[in-house]
Amino acid sequence: MAKTVAAKILVFDSGVGGLSILYALQQALPSCEYHYASDNQAFPYGTKSAEFLIERVHHVLQALIEKTQADLIVVACNTASTLVLPRIRQHFTIPVVGVVPAIKPAAGQSATSVIGLLATPGTVARPYTKALIEEFASDCEVVCVGSAELVSIAEQALRGTPAPREILRAIVKPLFDKPQLDTIVLACTHFPLIRQSLIDVAPRAVHWIDSGEAIARRVSSLLADQPTINTVLQATENTAIFTAASADIDLLKGALKRFKLSRVEYIRL
Ligand code: DGL
Repeated sequence: MAKTVAAKILVFDSGVGGLSILYALQQALPSCEYHYASDNQAFPYGTKSAEFLIERVHHVLQALIEKTQADLIVVACNTASTLVLPRIRQHFTIPVVGVVPAIKPAAGQSATSVIGLLATPGTVARPYTKALIEEFASDCEVVCVGSAELVSIAEQALRGTPAPREILRAIVKPLFDKPQLDTIVLACTHFPLIRQSLIDVAPRAVHWIDSGEAIARRVSSLLADQPTINTVLQATENTAIFTAASADIDLLKGALKRFKLSRVEYIRL
């Protein structure tokens, strides 16, 4: 029998990047109750070691699942998903959806077979990412750019500081130096949040691909397969959860409101 409460989805990232995924989920599944969790205490993930992240994400998710009693988890962080999904799926019984680089659709869509991958340094270096490229883009030339700076630019943009155009231009330059490149994968969930700023500094038009809609489709189909989960009942409130109290969360209030996160809570680890 279906539960008499709205389906609860936990969306997890190191920082605010996962809000780009939350947005796609809210479009597809507007009635669900969303718990958006940022591990701001350990932010950024993109420059941390694999050993640290595997332990950290497991530990934080354990606490978040206990707190939220979520029906499904979305690891809305490419840096984490490309590393931790097997361990997480082994330990938790609820469904886990991980955001990983959208290499397959990019390779399918590129007319020139020259594509760019814009991600964190961690994601660019992962064996998982290399395997994705081998499996789905072996006939493509893939230009990889790893940038931790772009992650903090996106964080600041959500706090009201405009993305600095000259720095953005320099970050994407190696991609546009390839004249045939026609498609760029935004393989960090922070980057779609500043998509327009990236488009504005791009010297020519290309396709910018992210994982938001594909993740929303996957979550919708997983929920539809679970008879006890109710995706019709309307949630009354969505919550943002942080792992550390910090003064600059005040600067995020406007952004959190835009993503319909009306409550702010903290979790002690
Ligand atoms: N948003 C994350 C991703 O998708 C990483 C940001 C970070 O470096 O913490 O990769």
